[in-house]
Amino acid sequence: MPGWCTSTAMWRRVKQVFAALTAKVAAADREFVAAWLTPGEQALFFAMNVPDQHHALQVAHAARRLAAGRENVDTGLLTRCALLHDVGKVKGDVSTFDKALAVLAHRLAPSWAEGWGRPGRGGRVANLRHALHVYFRHPERSAALLAGIGADERLLAIIRRHHWPPSPGEPPELTILREADDLH
Ligand SMILES: [Fe+2]
Ligand SMILES: [Fe+2]
Repeated sequence: MPGWCTSTAMWRRVKQVFAALTAKVAAADREFVAAWLTPGEQALFFAMNVPDQHHALQVAHAARRLAAGRENVDTGLLTRCALLHDVGKVKGDVSTFDKALAVLAHRLAPSWAEGWGRPGRGGRVANLRHALHVYFRHPERSAALLAGIGADERLLAIIRRHHWPPSPGEPPELTILREADDLH
């Protein structure tokens, strides 16, 4: 997550977490989702919190703008990846406060935060550890949920890698998804 390496970027992320609380998903957004996703994928999309749905829609629109005029990009695949990249963040799984703490912990002590994360909700501490687990592991969780409904391997490979550092030869849809995700 190279864009998160400065304190300015960190505070921007924390502010985004709280600003997203007022996010809305309008009828036109639901039509957009229905146009691009299968019913099973839509169920996973709408199983996210509204702020995460809003984020995914913004990433999808930004990604489509970044891809405009580029012949080597599969815009359909890119749009679907953008809408689905964070479905591993399931509604009710992590509170906004714990999500903000996870962003701070990632900035202040990334190795510790990643190692301390553990799946499974429970008491206050368990929920925070779960939040860190989701924060660091949501790409794999997204891919696993999508694999469970038979999503194709190209989509799964991009979503699994959306927080990996850029690497030579990666699909252009992954590069654009990462750029669009950093913008929102
Ligand atoms: Fe993500
Ligand atoms: Fe994202």
